[in-house]
Amino acid sequence: MEACKGAVFRLTLFAFLTRYAMCQEYFRMGVNTNSAEASQFLREYDREASGMCYRVTMSQWRFVTNITENNRRRMLEELALSSKFERLSWRKAAAYDATRLSDPQGRRQLMKIVMGSRAALPDDKYSELQQLITEMKEIYNSAKICPYGQKPYDPHIPREYIPEYQTMGQTYHLANQPYQHYQPYTESSESNYCDMQLDPEISRILAHSRIESELLYVWKSFRDQTGPKLRNRFMRYVQLANQAAVATGYRDAGDQMRAPYEDQSFRASVEEIYNQVQPLYKQLFTYVRRKLVQRYGETTVRSDGPIPAHLLGNMWAQNWKSIMDIVMPFPQSPNVDVTAEMLRQGFTPLRMFQMAEEFYTSMGLKPVPPEFWRGSLLARPPQRSVQCTASAWDFCNRIDYRIKQCTEVTQQDLVSTHHELAHIQYYLQYAEQPQLFRDGANPAFHEAVANAATLSVYNLPHLQRVGLYQNKSHDPYEVGMNFLMTMALEKVAYLPFAFMVDQWRWSVFEDGVQNMNTRWWQMKLRYQGVIPPLSRSEGDFDPGSKYHIVSDQEYVKYFLATILEFQIFEQLCQASGHTGHLYECDVYRSRDAGRLLSEIMQAGSSKPASEIIKSMTRGKTNRISPEALVKYFRPLELWLRVQNRDESLIGWNSNYHDVALFAPQRGQADTRGISCIALVLSSILTLL
Ligand SMILES: *[C@@H]1O[C@H](CO)[C@@H](O)[C@H](O)[C@H]1NC(C)=O
Ligand SMILES: *[C@@H]1O[C@H](CO)[C@@H](O)[C@H](O)[C@H]1NC(C)=O
Ligand SMILES: *[C@@H]1O[C@H](CO)[C@@H](O)[C@H](O)[C@H]1NC(C)=O
Ligand SMILES: [Zn+2]
Repeated sequence: MEACKGAVFRLTLFAFLTRYAMCQEYFRMGVNTNSAEASQFLREYDREASGMCYRVTMSQWRFVTNITENNRRRMLEELALSSKFERLSWRKAAAYDATRLSDPQGRRQLMKIVMGSRAALPDDKYSELQQLITEMKEIYNSAKICPYGQKPYDPHIPREYIPEYQTMGQTYHLANQPYQHYQPYTESSESNYCDMQLDPEISRILAHSRIESELLYVWKSFRDQTGPKLRNRFMRYVQLANQAAVATGYRDAGDQMRAPYEDQSFRASVEEIYNQVQPLYKQLFTYVRRKLVQRYGETTVRSDGPIPAHLLGNMWAQNWKSIMDIVMPFPQSPNVDVTAEMLRQGFTPLRMFQMAEEFYTSMGLKPVPPEFWRGSLLARPPQRSVQCTASAWDFCNRIDYRIKQCTEVTQQDLVSTHHELAHIQYYLQYAEQPQLFRDGANPAFHEAVANAATLSVYNLPHLQRVGLYQNKSHDPYEVGMNFLMTMALEKVAYLPFAFMVDQWRWSVFEDGVQNMNTRWWQMKLRYQGVIPPLSRSEGDFDPGSKYHIVSDQEYVKYFLATILEFQIFEQLCQASGHTGHLYECDVYRSRDAGRLLSEIMQAGSSKPASEIIKSMTRGKTNRISPEALVKYFRPLELWLRVQNRDESLIGWNSNYHDVALFAPQRGQADTRGISCIALVLSSILTLL
């Protein structure tokens, strides 16, 4: 509760110090100290908010599982009502002096209503901000590019060639569709010629194409179709979000986004974690760079330099697992994938979900209710337009929980099934909490818990136990290193990206929007070691190529979740009595691990995350720590150090040409030259 009290104190102080018109709100705020009235208000709020949440969630569900104009309109109506309710509740909650209420849980609930909201803005600005975010999302979602190489294609290949297979009388689509360099072109589809979207076409090219010019083309084209159209809207968004934050008592919108972590030294804590994982990242980076040099040549990738951002298999260079073919440690040993075995055994989406449910019940956790099986969408329905991203839904009525996933019979979707069911388990475990506490302990917890559970599902001992993998005569060390490399390309490669996104956003909220794009690339270079493959300017807006930026979603939670998932996993493994390598731990059928997991989940967000971490680690620490992640990857790190022993530099050296790709040239502005030099200095990394 210390953090909350601190925030309220600052609110009051702020109200005296500023001349903002909105501060009128403040003087009224915090006067009512009647605890009985506050409790009454919170009881009503809980009932109304649950009802509102149910209606909004249901309308969203109807829309995304059945995309029609009618369903969109109904959803927007519900969202408008909900937004009105939020503003009204904010005014009521802000009338209390939360610090003087006797009931600590009531205090915490009031603070949650007030702190996260932008309702302190006047009506017109509040609507403008909502409208801006909606527009930015629409621009992003409708971005399309033309195919690479403007020439007609073989009209005999259907546009979406998706292999299918038959099982139990039903047809399922296979994931990992064969990649085609060129979209087929037919006379009749001429008007749809330039309709390649991020998902799936562009992502697929970045993942599978190894033609450098094609990668460059899609990398640039997607940014051309998003950034320039979003730039001005984003600048206005920054202004309004900051005004809302200031009117609520924060320094700026970044300060407000960090508040749910309830950590006074949050920025320093996050930076410290980044510093602890950086040595591992640099080992991975250095090894991957050498493989890319071998693949694309020294003229494309400098052997001690940063990596051009279009070569890593992903639009944002955030997940490198698609280039496993280039960097696989032991190509002669397999990279285990049980998809073929699942197909051989006749798996269906339903069976995958039953198997995942059994994973949790085997640990003594809850089975999903009958409503789950009735309501969920587990496979792509025929003849209906559906938004297919996998997601887990809580309808806020303590009855209805669902998953939407266009499940395909693959190992990847088997893992995803366990992941989504972990979210459902979390919902079930904290169902008895009031609505405001039915959430992760902090914004990182939901993803962390879901991924901690799935860390157990990926690994070979588990796949063996559930009969999907037979131990063939492969060298277990080589198979283990291949497995750890796959995990590192997904998790370790992601860390600096997940860290830098909000470093950039906080700096924009704090210092303003000048040189936004240059600062984005400065941070990309400094933390990720990547540079743009061609020159960028302030007319570009490359952060706009990331959905979470334009859709106003906090991002550092993904950084922390990736760290925390290993920390939670290690605790579960300890509880289950696991010995040996952490990456071989399987908590399946461990009641003790299940008990620990349910303890973590049951509290919801009723307590600060630090308390939950403290009890989870039996008092060892109250902070998120990367020790478990580093331990998990230790065997790979040792292997990487051996691979990198002849490298002149672990990490990257940037030179003037790298920086000139995105920083204004020297002489244009006096301070710019200095910051360029500082940047070069700061990114020269020492040998480890
Ligand atoms: C999809 O939504 C429309 C309303 O726009 C409704 O008439 C139709 O029954 C829905 N289809 C399904 C399968 O739910
Ligand atoms: C697979 O079998 C080999 C011996 O053939 C053994 O050394 C290894 O530990 C086994 N691996 C697993 C994961 O059980
Ligand atoms: C965590 O524990 C330390 C002492 O071990 C204490 O100083 C600190 O305030 C605690 N942090 C939180 C957020 O409770
Ligand atoms: Zn998730």
